[in-house]
Amino acid sequence: MNQIDPQDTWKHICKVDELDDVEEDEGLQVTVDNGAIVAVFRVNGEFYVIEDLCSHGNASLAEGFLEDFDVECPFHGGKFDIRTGEATAFPCATAIKVYEVKVGDGVLFAKVSPQAPPPDEEAKDA
Ligand code: FES
Repeated sequence: MNQIDPQDTWKHICKVDELDDVEEDEGLQVTVDNGAIVAVFRVNGEFYVIEDLCSHGNASLAEGFLEDFDVECPFHGGKFDIRTGEATAFPCATAIKVYEVKVGDGVLFAKVSPQAPPPDEEAKDA
């Protein structure tokens, strides 16, 4: 059964067929209705949704290159395992978020928490 419980925190990510035009070694960037920006990958028919921000800098991992389950950051070549978020190659050392996914009625959903607001630089200096 693919029933979607409207009471839980699942967020609509995209229609599954939107990924048909995305190569398996590429990601799709999606902005979720709560403001979070995620990168979606499909490997061997399985879907993976991760936060679309490298933990080393301001880079989109959706624009990176996927090899097996490691996405390589387009900026400095750091890597993350899209299954766990673990940093797997220098210079990345801090894990990124990965989100639980499910598919229902041809739609990909993920449990995506709202994007944390950027740090308030003025507040830090006060
Ligand atoms: S910004 Fe991603 S490795 Fe540096």
